[in-house]
Amino acid sequence: MGHQPRIVLGVCGGIAAYKSADLCRRLVEAGARVAPVMTEDAHRFLGEVTLSALATEPVRTSLWDEREPIPHTRLGQWADLVLIAPATARLIGAYAGGLSHDLLTATLLATRAPVLVCPAMHEEMWEHPAVQDNVALLRSRGVEVVDPATGRLAGGDVGTGRLADLPDIVSAVFEALSAGKGAVERDLAGQRLVVTAGGTREPLDPVRFLGNRSSGKQGHALADEAAARGAHVTLVTTAGRAAAAGVRVVDVETAEEMEQAVLSLAGDADVVVMAAAVADFRPKAPADRKLKRSEGVPEILLEPTPDILAALGEHKGPDQLLVGFAAETPAASDDMRREALAKLRRKRLDLVVANDVLAPGAGFGHDTNVVLLIDANGAERAVPLMDKREVARVVIDTVVEMRSRRGGGADPDPVTEPGTEPVTEQGVEEVPRKGRHQ
Ligand code: CTP
Repeated sequence: MGHQPRIVLGVCGGIAAYKSADLCRRLVEAGARVAPVMTEDAHRFLGEVTLSALATEPVRTSLWDEREPIPHTRLGQWADLVLIAPATARLIGAYAGGLSHDLLTATLLATRAPVLVCPAMHEEMWEHPAVQDNVALLRSRGVEVVDPATGRLAGGDVGTGRLADLPDIVSAVFEALSAGKGAVERDLAGQRLVVTAGGTREPLDPVRFLGNRSSGKQGHALADEAAARGAHVTLVTTAGRAAAAGVRVVDVETAEEMEQAVLSLAGDADVVVMAAAVADFRPKAPADRKLKRSEGVPEILLEPTPDILAALGEHKGPDQLLVGFAAETPAASDDMRREALAKLRRKRLDLVVANDVLAPGAGFGHDTNVVLLIDANGAERAVPLMDKREVARVVIDTVVEMRSRRGGGADPDPVTEPGTEPVTEQGVEEVPRKGRHQ
């Protein structure tokens, strides 16, 4: 790709403005250049210094800066994407009405880049017909609106209106970029991928289950990344999270349901990625009514679940690529490597993605991850701490390279960025933190 995506980050005056600092950091870590534009009211909630320390470009606030005449047209032309997070009801109204009273609104009118608006406000305001009509109008003009989430709002109220989760915003940004200026290669065009995500839940009785701490974030990021790069993706997930447009979602709960879904889909798949944390054991005889405390402590007998990945390995098609995960809690990094390699061989995988789930910032529930990729030749690629979407990018890069080496890739000449060379030789290769957006 070579080109770092250029993002204008508009910050309005709402309590969620404090999250813009973290959002800015995530976008920069994902390899983007970020030029923040703050409205006057945004300064009431967030210090300019905070944003300028995190962004790659200077923070701008005024239409009337003498050092930089007509900043709005410059910014509008510079941007690959304009992101407004948080967007207040006032900003949405002004943008829908074509007003340009400050630098941010003027930039919105002066750009031809895709625009992504992330509203955040109180539920009553969000649901007001004026706001809803303005949002509908913006959408009808091709503006992407990332709906607010439900949860705690300012003042302790609970409702819909909270700024969408930051990883979801980062994903939406990269999808919009890939749909726009071709910033992301469609190097999986026409390929069929099956991806699994989340931890399975094995019922003990109708209200209880044995589960694990997997959030599904890494599997979802993989599915979203593959879809952004042109693949037909089916995501078999327990996570109940939204997936990117174009990803077909199959919701499951137990290992058995996941097995049925995956095995029925795998026959047609070019690539299967098992990112799910599938339970290894389940209660042998789940109760059909709630276990009662008054009836004493139950003895629960467990039985093994089917090993989905091992079954896939046994029936793998000649051109199919099988990617497994190995979540470990190793005593030393060598243990993790050995364990992961043993899994790769045992389950006949082409690639294993190993992670130490106890490492800081990695594994279950985090938005970031640290992984080690090992292929069937024993070649390794170490991926340092980065956003799960960026980890997904490196995993998908590797899949594309492996497929093109086998002659099964969509793109006969995939782009390899400096520092993410194909896994071909024995030995560890370090992936730089900013992944492919160098
Ligand atoms: N997996 C699977 N079916 C299972 C258990 C695991 O398909 N019943 C898959 C996971 O999705 C993952 C890989 O196998 O891609 C490795 O899972 P992991 O739990 O790390 O390994 P196990 O095979 O369960 O081995 P161990 O418990 O000894 O670590």
